[in-house]
Amino acid sequence: MEVLEAIHTRQSIGKVKPDPVPREWIEKLLSAAVQAPNHYKVRPWRFVVLTGAARERLGDVMAKVFLEKYPDLSPDLLATALEKERSKPLRSPVLIAVGVDKPSEPRVIEIENICATAAACQNILLAAHALGLAAKWRTGEAAREPQIKQFLGFEPDQHLIAFLYIGYPEFEPPPPDRPSFEGNTTWMDP
Ligand SMILES: Cc1cc2nc3c(=O)[nH]c(=O)nc-3n(C[C@H](O)[C@H](O)[C@H](O)COP(=O)(O)O)c2cc1C
Repeated sequence: MEVLEAIHTRQSIGKVKPDPVPREWIEKLLSAAVQAPNHYKVRPWRFVVLTGAARERLGDVMAKVFLEKYPDLSPDLLATALEKERSKPLRSPVLIAVGVDKPSEPRVIEIENICATAAACQNILLAAHALGLAAKWRTGEAAREPQIKQFLGFEPDQHLIAFLYIGYPEFEPPPPDRPSFEGNTTWMDP
Protein backbone atom coordinates (compact mmCIF):
# COMPACT_ATOMS: atom_id res chain seq x y z
CA MET A 1 0.00 0.00 0.00
CA GLU A 2 1.28 3.42 -0.94
CA VAL A 3 2.16 5.58 2.09
CA LEU A 4 -0.31 8.41 1.44
CA GLU A 5 -3.10 5.91 0.91
CA ALA A 6 -2.19 4.17 4.19
CA ILE A 7 -2.20 7.48 6.08
CA HIS A 8 -5.55 8.52 4.66
CA THR A 9 -7.35 5.21 5.08
CA ARG A 10 -6.00 4.11 8.48
CA GLN A 11 -8.46 4.24 11.30
CA SER A 12 -8.80 2.81 14.78
CA ILE A 13 -10.50 -0.56 14.79
CA GLY A 14 -11.24 -1.97 18.22
CA LYS A 15 -13.15 -5.10 17.26
CA VAL A 16 -10.80 -7.84 16.15
CA LYS A 17 -10.84 -11.60 15.74
CA PRO A 18 -9.17 -13.74 18.41
CA ASP A 19 -6.94 -15.45 15.79
CA PRO A 20 -3.25 -15.20 16.63
CA VAL A 21 -1.03 -12.96 14.50
CA PRO A 22 2.21 -14.63 13.29
CA ARG A 23 5.30 -13.46 15.13
CA GLU A 24 6.89 -12.56 11.78
CA TRP A 25 4.14 -9.98 11.26
CA ILE A 26 4.55 -8.57 14.75
CA GLU A 27 8.24 -8.21 13.99
CA LYS A 28 7.37 -6.31 10.81
CA LEU A 29 5.39 -3.87 12.95
CA LEU A 30 8.26 -3.41 15.38
CA SER A 31 10.69 -2.95 12.53
CA ALA A 32 8.45 -0.22 11.12
CA ALA A 33 8.29 1.36 14.59
CA VAL A 34 12.04 1.80 14.91
CA GLN A 35 12.29 3.69 11.61
CA ALA A 36 10.75 6.70 13.37
CA PRO A 37 12.74 9.94 13.67
CA ASN A 38 14.38 10.52 17.06
CA HIS A 39 16.64 13.32 18.24
CA TYR A 40 20.29 12.39 18.97
CA LYS A 41 19.46 8.85 17.80
CA VAL A 42 18.60 7.82 21.33
CA ARG A 43 15.90 5.36 20.14
CA PRO A 44 13.83 6.11 23.27
CA TRP A 45 11.04 3.56 22.61
CA ARG A 46 10.49 0.43 24.66
CA PHE A 47 8.06 -2.19 23.42
CA VAL A 48 6.53 -4.96 25.50
CA VAL A 49 4.66 -7.43 23.32
CA LEU A 50 1.94 -9.35 25.12
CA THR A 51 0.29 -12.34 23.51
CA GLY A 52 -1.46 -15.44 24.85
CA ALA A 53 -1.61 -15.81 28.62
CA ALA A 54 0.63 -12.77 29.18
CA ARG A 55 -2.50 -10.70 28.44
CA GLU A 56 -4.32 -12.53 31.23
CA ARG A 57 -1.51 -11.67 33.63
CA LEU A 58 -1.85 -8.00 32.68
CA GLY A 59 -5.62 -8.28 33.18
CA ASP A 60 -5.02 -9.65 36.68
CA VAL A 61 -2.85 -6.64 37.53
CA MET A 62 -5.50 -4.28 36.14
CA ALA A 63 -8.13 -5.95 38.31
CA LYS A 64 -5.86 -5.77 41.39
CA VAL A 65 -5.27 -2.07 40.83
CA PHE A 66 -9.01 -1.48 40.44
CA LEU A 67 -9.75 -3.35 43.65
CA GLU A 68 -7.20 -1.28 45.56
CA LYS A 69 -8.71 1.95 44.19
CA TYR A 70 -12.37 1.11 44.74
CA PRO A 71 -12.52 -1.37 47.66
CA ASP A 72 -15.92 -0.08 48.84
CA LEU A 73 -17.99 -0.88 45.77
CA SER A 74 -20.92 -3.21 46.33
CA PRO A 75 -20.02 -6.88 45.71
CA ASP A 76 -22.16 -7.02 42.53
CA LEU A 77 -20.67 -3.90 40.99
CA LEU A 78 -17.21 -4.96 42.05
CA ALA A 79 -17.48 -8.40 40.47
CA THR A 80 -18.63 -6.90 37.17
CA ALA A 81 -15.96 -4.22 37.22
CA LEU A 82 -13.18 -6.66 38.05
CA GLU A 83 -14.25 -8.96 35.23
CA LYS A 84 -14.20 -5.98 32.87
CA GLU A 85 -10.67 -5.03 33.98
CA ARG A 86 -9.47 -8.61 33.58
CA SER A 87 -10.87 -8.87 30.08
CA LYS A 88 -9.47 -5.57 28.77
CA PRO A 89 -6.14 -6.96 27.52
CA LEU A 90 -7.99 -9.86 25.89
CA ARG A 91 -9.65 -7.53 23.40
CA SER A 92 -7.02 -8.43 20.82
CA PRO A 93 -4.55 -11.28 20.31
CA VAL A 94 -1.60 -8.87 20.34
CA LEU A 95 -1.04 -6.01 22.69
CA ILE A 96 2.04 -3.83 22.45
CA ALA A 97 2.71 -1.63 25.46
CA VAL A 98 4.95 1.29 24.55
CA GLY A 99 7.14 3.07 27.06
CA VAL A 100 9.53 5.99 26.74
CA ASP A 101 13.09 6.06 28.01
CA LYS A 102 13.90 8.88 30.38
CA PRO A 103 16.60 11.26 29.07
CA SER A 104 20.00 9.75 29.73
CA GLU A 105 22.09 12.88 29.14
CA PRO A 106 21.48 16.63 29.60
CA ARG A 107 20.99 17.45 25.92
CA VAL A 108 18.18 14.91 25.61
CA ILE A 109 14.76 16.39 26.41
CA GLU A 110 11.87 14.34 27.75
CA ILE A 111 9.24 15.77 25.39
CA GLU A 112 11.40 14.89 22.40
CA ASN A 113 11.67 11.28 23.54
CA ILE A 114 7.90 11.20 23.91
CA CYS A 115 7.44 12.67 20.43
CA ALA A 116 9.80 10.13 18.88
CA THR A 117 8.03 7.26 20.63
CA ALA A 118 4.64 8.55 19.50
CA ALA A 119 5.98 8.59 15.94
CA ALA A 120 7.03 4.96 16.42
CA CYS A 121 3.48 4.15 17.55
CA GLN A 122 2.02 5.76 14.45
CA ASN A 123 4.43 3.71 12.32
CA ILE A 124 3.04 0.59 13.97
CA LEU A 125 -0.54 1.66 13.27
CA LEU A 126 0.27 2.40 9.63
CA ALA A 127 2.26 -0.79 9.12
CA ALA A 128 -0.57 -2.81 10.67
CA HIS A 129 -3.04 -1.17 8.32
CA ALA A 130 -0.80 -1.83 5.31
CA LEU A 131 -0.68 -5.53 6.31
CA GLY A 132 -4.48 -5.68 6.57
CA LEU A 133 -4.44 -5.77 10.36
CA ALA A 134 -6.67 -3.73 12.63
CA ALA A 135 -5.12 -1.63 15.36
CA LYS A 136 -6.20 0.72 18.10
CA TRP A 137 -4.12 2.97 20.33
CA ARG A 138 -5.47 3.04 23.87
CA THR A 139 -4.24 4.57 27.12
CA GLY A 140 -6.67 5.20 29.99
CA GLU A 141 -5.82 5.21 33.68
CA ALA A 142 -3.88 1.98 33.28
CA ALA A 143 -1.20 3.80 31.33
CA ARG A 144 -0.46 6.03 34.32
CA GLU A 145 -0.62 3.32 36.95
CA PRO A 146 2.72 2.52 38.66
CA GLN A 147 1.82 -1.14 39.33
CA ILE A 148 1.04 -1.70 35.67
CA LYS A 149 4.26 0.00 34.62
CA GLN A 150 6.14 -2.21 37.05
CA PHE A 151 4.50 -5.35 35.67
CA LEU A 152 5.65 -4.31 32.20
CA GLY A 153 9.19 -3.63 33.40
CA PHE A 154 8.98 0.16 33.34
CA GLU A 155 9.98 2.59 36.08
CA PRO A 156 7.09 4.30 37.92
CA ASP A 157 8.16 7.69 36.51
CA GLN A 158 8.67 6.42 32.99
CA HIS A 159 5.93 7.36 30.50
CA LEU A 160 3.79 4.53 29.19
CA ILE A 161 2.20 6.21 26.20
CA ALA A 162 0.30 3.43 24.47
CA PHE A 163 -1.36 0.10 24.57
CA LEU A 164 -1.58 -0.82 20.90
CA TYR A 165 -4.27 -3.44 20.37
CA ILE A 166 -3.70 -5.40 17.18
CA GLY A 167 -5.45 -8.25 15.39
CA TYR A 168 -7.35 -9.20 12.28
CA PRO A 169 -10.33 -6.89 11.74
CA GLU A 170 -13.72 -8.24 12.65
CA PHE A 171 -15.29 -6.04 9.96
CA GLU A 172 -14.30 -3.45 7.34
CA PRO A 173 -15.39 -0.04 8.64
CA PRO A 174 -16.53 2.67 6.20
CA PRO A 175 -13.76 5.05 5.12
CA PRO A 176 -12.83 7.64 7.77
CA ASP A 177 -14.35 11.08 7.39
CA ARG A 178 -11.94 13.58 8.91
CA PRO A 179 -11.96 17.37 8.88
CA SER A 180 -9.47 19.09 6.59
CA PHE A 181 -6.25 20.60 7.90
CA GLU A 182 -7.53 24.10 7.14
CA GLY A 183 -8.95 24.96 10.57
CA ASN A 184 -5.68 23.98 12.22
CA THR A 185 -3.31 25.74 9.87
CA THR A 186 -1.95 29.28 9.50
CA TRP A 187 0.03 30.11 6.39
CA MET A 188 2.79 32.65 6.94
CA ASP A 189 4.19 34.18 3.77
CA PRO A 190 6.33 36.17 4.15
C1 LIG B 1 -2.34 9.19 22.85
C2 LIG B 1 -3.62 8.51 22.44
C3 LIG B 1 -4.39 7.88 23.40
C4 LIG B 1 -5.57 7.24 23.05
N1 LIG B 1 -6.30 6.61 24.02
C5 LIG B 1 -7.46 6.03 23.70
C6 LIG B 1 -8.22 5.34 24.69
O1 LIG B 1 -7.83 5.25 25.85
N2 LIG B 1 -9.39 4.79 24.31
C7 LIG B 1 -9.85 4.87 23.03
O2 LIG B 1 -10.94 4.37 22.74
N3 LIG B 1 -9.12 5.45 22.06
C8 LIG B 1 -7.94 6.03 22.35
N4 LIG B 1 -7.20 6.62 21.38
C9 LIG B 1 -7.63 6.52 19.96
C10 LIG B 1 -8.41 7.72 19.53
O3 LIG B 1 -9.64 7.73 20.18
C11 LIG B 1 -8.61 7.64 18.00
O4 LIG B 1 -7.37 7.70 17.37
C12 LIG B 1 -9.49 8.79 17.56
O5 LIG B 1 -10.80 8.54 17.94
C13 LIG B 1 -9.46 9.00 16.07
O6 LIG B 1 -9.89 7.86 15.40
P1 LIG B 1 -9.01 7.23 14.27
O7 LIG B 1 -7.78 6.64 14.90
O8 LIG B 1 -9.90 6.21 13.62
O9 LIG B 1 -8.66 8.35 13.32
C14 LIG B 1 -6.00 7.25 21.69
C15 LIG B 1 -5.20 7.89 20.72
C16 LIG B 1 -4.03 8.50 21.09
C17 LIG B 1 -3.19 9.16 20.02
